Amino acid sequence: MTESVWSGGKLLKNKTVVVTGCSSGIGKETARLVKLLGGDVLGVDITKTEDHVDELYIADMSDRRTLKALINALPTGIDGIANIAGLPPTAPAEKVLLVNLVGLKFFTENMIPKLNNGASIVNLASLAGFGWSHAVPAVKASEELEFEDVRQFVQDHKVSNEGGRSYFFSKEALIVWTMQNRWTWRDRGIRMNAVSPGPVDTPILKDFIETLGDRAEEDNRIMDRPGLPEDIAPIVAFLLSDMTKWIRGTNIPADGGMSSNILCEMHQF
Ligand SMILES: NC(=O)c1ccc[n+]([C@@H]2O[C@H](COP(=O)([O-])OP(=O)(O)OC[C@H]3O[C@@H](n4cnc5c(N)ncnc54)[C@H](O)[C@@H]3O)[C@@H](O)[C@H]2O)c1
Repeated sequence: MTESVWSGGKLLKNKTVVVTGCSSGIGKETARLVKLLGGDVLGVDITKTEDHVDELYIADMSDRRTLKALINALPTGIDGIANIAGLPPTAPAEKVLLVNLVGLKFFTENMIPKLNNGASIVNLASLAGFGWSHAVPAVKASEELEFEDVRQFVQDHKVSNEGGRSYFFSKEALIVWTMQNRWTWRDRGIRMNAVSPGPVDTPILKDFIETLGDRAEEDNRIMDRPGLPEDIAPIVAFLLSDMTKWIRGTNIPADGGMSSNILCEMHQF
């Protein structure tokens, strides 16, 4: 490992990182950790919180106009984006898709000119996106999905809130989009990866339990404990660092073994 990559122990020294969803849960912990590791944090959220970022930008990730203003307001010279803002399945389906997928994609794609060469983009997906291969037609149909077409899309592709489908779909499509962008900005060394947590103890955990009902009971039987934001933020920080230059288009599960458990049961190991 070269000294320049390790930065004398300060993994994110001199890096400027945009963290969306910085006011709560995993985003808040990520913002804290990026700072601890020597980076500067430009936080984005719809709500304000105590001061743990270098600059806070209040923006609604579901609204194209607000996002355009945010992109204009952000400086150039950015080394990383952690796309962490997200809504749980108890929010209206249209909003879930707008924040977790359409707004995230719009924001990221339009931020590319403001990124430094070698920048890293990290998308907070979920174990909920594990089953993306069973949703390929809908995922393909969402590739060019625009803000104003989301309501119709929810109807046409049956991604309502029933059983948390809107949320599951938003994360399935996000994992696929991450894979699709494995090489999109390769000439500039810009990479994109995802992290997929299992249930994490943040303010939205109760929303998942409410939506999943019996399936959440099953999760409780399998899990020793829910994750903590502190279990997830280090993986985001690792992916933001120069140590992961050759990790591209990957989805890293961080779920206490739950995705491996699904695979073992599925294939009867
Ligand atoms: N908690 C879990 O069990 C879990 C599991 C897997 C994945 N995730 C994902 O992790 C990410 C963070 O979730 P969390 O658990 O920390 O939840 P959280 O509610 O604590 O944090 C989400 C943040 O996103 C912000 N946000 C919501 N809507 C927004 C909007 N329209 N514009 C800007 N900001 C907005 C909220 O204000 C909040 O600060 C989400 O993408 C979520 O889907 C969470």
